[in-house]
Amino acid sequence: MSKKTPEQATKMAEEEFTADFPSEIVKEGKVHVVVPKLKAFVKQPSDYAPSKAPVFYNPVMELNRDIAVLAFQAHQRIANKDITICEPLTSSGIRGVRFAAEIHGVKKVLISDINERAFKLAKHNVHLNGLQERVTVKHKDANCLLSCHGAPHKRFDILDLDPFGSPVPYLDSAIRALRNNGLLAATATDLAPLCGVHAKACARKYGGKPLRTEYCHELAVRLLAGCVTTLAAKHDIGIRVVFNHSTAHYIRVYAQIAYGAKKADENIKNLGYILHCFNCFHRETAKNPFAKRIEKCPECGSKMDYAGPLWLGRIFDKQFCESMAKENTRVAFRNSGKIAKLLTLAKDEAEAPTTYYVLDKISAKLALPVPSVDAVLQNLRDSGFQAFPTHFNSRGVRTDAPALTMQELLRKVTAAA
Ligand SMILES: C[S@@+](CC[C@H](N)C(=O)[O-])C[C@H]1O[C@@H](n2cnc3c(N)ncnc32)[C@H](O)[C@@H]1O
Ligand SMILES: [Zn+2]
Repeated sequence: MSKKTPEQATKMAEEEFTADFPSEIVKEGKVHVVVPKLKAFVKQPSDYAPSKAPVFYNPVMELNRDIAVLAFQAHQRIANKDITICEPLTSSGIRGVRFAAEIHGVKKVLISDINERAFKLAKHNVHLNGLQERVTVKHKDANCLLSCHGAPHKRFDILDLDPFGSPVPYLDSAIRALRNNGLLAATATDLAPLCGVHAKACARKYGGKPLRTEYCHELAVRLLAGCVTTLAAKHDIGIRVVFNHSTAHYIRVYAQIAYGAKKADENIKNLGYILHCFNCFHRETAKNPFAKRIEKCPECGSKMDYAGPLWLGRIFDKQFCESMAKENTRVAFRNSGKIAKLLTLAKDEAEAPTTYYVLDKISAKLALPVPSVDAVLQNLRDSGFQAFPTHFNSRGVRTDAPALTMQELLRKVTAAA
């Protein structure tokens, strides 16, 4: 790749490309790209600038893209070979361009967008960074493109789905376009369905019932992973969720796939339900809710509700998180510090109990001041329970302590404070 100073990059962009909308050059990771000048598209305070521009661009998603670079690099190191990546919803091309410029061992990147202006801009950004040898840009519908890559010799090692809203419309063709042991990354910004505000939409799209609990973002990850499991199983493919994160207005899931009917059968065993008591905050997992009576909370006797079917297996792989953390020490992203913290939490969460309590919620119920997370974690460990913080919520605690024990413990901790 020919290195350019920001001044050279700006000059080249001005000379060779004239966007028919206000644009500017930004630097992200190791690349310079032309993007819409967002300020020009805000007419009133309520306007969401990224969607108002003729080509979508959201600077807030830099963290999402940084993490993708680290995860894909970790995957490449594990695969120990040159890899191919496809990003079929690329917009300005910023993500795919970064993959080619920043990840070692990337043979080819295919990026595409159905929006013609996005396609032209992405093509320009590829040239701007001197990556035309390794990055191909297409102007195609994502499902059409992915279906053309469903044959064995045409498949990719990594697929990145970063859509508006839900990735579900693209999941089936994405799974079919992935090689054995490939990695699927999918963003979902439709948190209203996934977090239970629009429960019917969630059931329709993801095939599972959400629940408006304090740990709804974890449920969202599990609902998306469950949906991928079911779709993959239809093709005799199993999945392993290696990483996920819930950040700002979205969730993101990274799943490695493995060919084989047995793997798919094993995987289906990871599907199940989470039962929740809205009175005392008791929660439990159930592989088969019909095998036992689920109506009554075993701790307080209240009627319980449920979420699912969803993925009950692991949502982080410790080694994968460690590998990402190692990669993070080799780069200098604006978000490196933030990512290091996230990866430390993720590593600990990898083997922690499913779901987390949120201290504010319990304290509000008991009309107590909210204790510090550290004090609660220490007390839980002293009492012989597992206890971990969670990246999902800064006031969240993963523990195997029952809900009523948590209530007692919060009373104790606040009384002692
Ligand atoms: C959220 S944006 C992608 C952002 C980009 N990945 C990034 O990191 O900046 C979603 C993009 O998907 C494109 N899109 C929507 N439907 C599509 C389809 N059926 N096929 C291909 N592209 C599509 C839109 O034009 C838009 O550019
Ligand atoms: Zn209860």
